[in-house]
Amino acid sequence: MGKYTDNPAAVAALVEQHQVHRDTYIDQEIYELEMKHLFSNTWVFVGHDSQTPTKGDYITTQIGNQPVIMVRHSDNEIYVLYNRCPHKGTKIAIDRAGNTGKFFRCPYHAWSFKTNGCLLAIPLKKGYADTAFKDSEANHGLEPVGDVKNYRGFVFARLAKQGISFEDYFGEAMSSFDNMVDRAPEGRLEVAGPPLRYMHQCNWKMLVDNQTDTCHPMVAHESSAGTAVKLFEEANWPEDKPKPMAMEIIAPFMSPYEFFEEMGIRTWPNGHGHTGVHHSIHSDYTQEPEYWDAMVAGHGEERTEEILSEIRHNTVYWPNIMIKGPVQQLRNFIPLGPNKTLVESYIYRLVGAPDYLLQRTAMYNRLINAPTSMVGHDDLEMYERAQEGLHAQSTEWINIQRLHTEEENYDEIAVENGTTERQMRNQMNAWVKFMTMTMSDKVEAAE
Ligand SMILES: [Fe+2]
Repeated sequence: MGKYTDNPAAVAALVEQHQVHRDTYIDQEIYELEMKHLFSNTWVFVGHDSQTPTKGDYITTQIGNQPVIMVRHSDNEIYVLYNRCPHKGTKIAIDRAGNTGKFFRCPYHAWSFKTNGCLLAIPLKKGYADTAFKDSEANHGLEPVGDVKNYRGFVFARLAKQGISFEDYFGEAMSSFDNMVDRAPEGRLEVAGPPLRYMHQCNWKMLVDNQTDTCHPMVAHESSAGTAVKLFEEANWPEDKPKPMAMEIIAPFMSPYEFFEEMGIRTWPNGHGHTGVHHSIHSDYTQEPEYWDAMVAGHGEERTEEILSEIRHNTVYWPNIMIKGPVQQLRNFIPLGPNKTLVESYIYRLVGAPDYLLQRTAMYNRLINAPTSMVGHDDLEMYERAQEGLHAQSTEWINIQRLHTEEENYDEIAVENGTTERQMRNQMNAWVKFMTMTMSDKVEAAE
């Protein structure tokens, strides 16, 4: 046990109003405490219900470092269960996705479980006849996580049995999910294939911070997006000819500081927030008349106008996902260690929309997010350099002070200049809140 375990005061001291101590990004003990407290007390994204459309369909994933199965049970509901046989601990499911039929069967001793986790059968059950097995934890079957919520297809879970409700945790922040789903003429999304998956040798929070870091695109992406813009200018593309889709996507990364200042950042309580309040890098995408018509048929003209005029950029749902409503994407930053993060980049189909929309979504994912992309690896280079640089025997603090004011209250919703680092401060404020809420009991008792 190190200096931070059961010591909420020491953990809280790592975050000051305008700066964050490097241990939050590089320390093994802090990482383990994040898994135990932060990822247990918060609502964490698990998957989309269209990944498991049929009874018996499941995916395996992680909530923090906890292996879980998301499965569709015979009642058609989605269950989230710990991926651990109650007998000896064996992971019940090992594939990323599959269909298990009516039950899970442990490959070690053939204990079987209904798809809601209940114990179904044990070979040689009579061996337990004269024991107190029925009172044992093993008899409970596969343990469900603390709580599960399916919000318009997006499944979230809280590991802790007790804690903040889904509604209180996200509040008005769910408006970004609403807008993404409402963009489907039929009001429903479907996952479009498995996500892109790639490994980053850096702390998961570096990726989260990057989502509302509006002062880096014109710098870090100059070599990629800047070069694309320059070459396109030299090509003398005719005014009346539609711009290639790739250029529509990549050119706005080179927008000047003023563009990002004016676009605005909104922060919500509990560490959630988004860029692109007034406009965003997605604002000038070509709108196909066919899509407009499908939307009007589904939602009516007034509502369509309302939905499509909300063009948010990145929305962070603390702790570890980001969505882009206008391009139907979700990126999941799964922490594997203080300096190792698995990124999953999902894309979704707008049900009822023309294929053009999915083409753009898929192109965005390949062009901007993929390991082979022109843009994403610019960011990766920065994260990995920072992960190394933080070990320098220089200052131990990371600065998050841009446009900081003394009166900031993160329990209030605020809209500010789009270059503020308020959202990063909001995140770390929530970090302290959820890291320390279950540590404090012991300490208070000890005092
Ligand atoms: Fe970037």
